[in-house]
Amino acid sequence: MMSIENLSQTRALPIGLRALRIDDLPQMMALQASIYPPALLESAEVLASKISAVPAGWSSLAATEGDTLCAYALGYPWRSDRQPGWNRPLAPQHDCDVLYLHDVAVATAYAGRGIAGQMVRHLMQQGQQCGLSRAILVAVEGAQGYWSRLGFIATAAGRTDPAFGSDAVLMQRELLPSDPVLPAAV
Ligand SMILES: CC(C)(COP(=O)(O)OP(=O)(O)OC[C@H]1O[C@@H](n2cnc3c(N)ncnc32)[C@H](O)[C@@H]1OP(=O)(O)O)[C@@H](O)C(=O)NCCC(=O)NCCS
Repeated sequence: MMSIENLSQTRALPIGLRALRIDDLPQMMALQASIYPPALLESAEVLASKISAVPAGWSSLAATEGDTLCAYALGYPWRSDRQPGWNRPLAPQHDCDVLYLHDVAVATAYAGRGIAGQMVRHLMQQGQQCGLSRAILVAVEGAQGYWSRLGFIATAAGRTDPAFGSDAVLMQRELLPSDPVLPAAV
């Protein structure tokens, strides 16, 4: 397990960061239900596919305090010519050219401690090291301002899947090897 205490660029946290696992699913389901409205909840089957149907060596992230899942960040290689969907099982992808940050969720009790920022930076670093030159995401629930702070900008490209809600915004960000926002290699 990596320690955010060692990785944090801002302040020390007694929270660990590790690969997200299938056995995290029960706590993931509870966490998403605690922060998202019912229309934005994904099934256990869909969440499991997004943990598992990824290239060898790729992992999404869990932030934990002891046995408690404080936060998770689901992201995976994706094809930019495909529209991301909500609550659709992930099938293995080929010829991926972008990192798709699907869901970053932090339990309310752990908000504002830099956990989401650390997880996003590590997923972006993983994507950059896998040869992906861009990250995309769909900002929901008014989170566009949060993503702007991490360097994402709204794209002019078309509509998002209606399941994301009417206020959803497709955003993107370049992933450059020398990006100062990305953490040092670990
Ligand atoms: C958005 C979210 C992931 C941020 O997690 P976090 O670990 O608290 O984020 P960080 O600690 O890295 O950053 C906190 C900062 O972001 C700001 N922030 C949080 N949510 C924000 C939002 N929706 N819009 C703008 N700024 C936001 C906080 O005010 C805080 O600002 P400060 O550093 O000036 O005090 C978390 O609040 C969450 O899980 N929200 C519900 C799920 C969600 O909306 N996910 C994103 C879907 S696209």
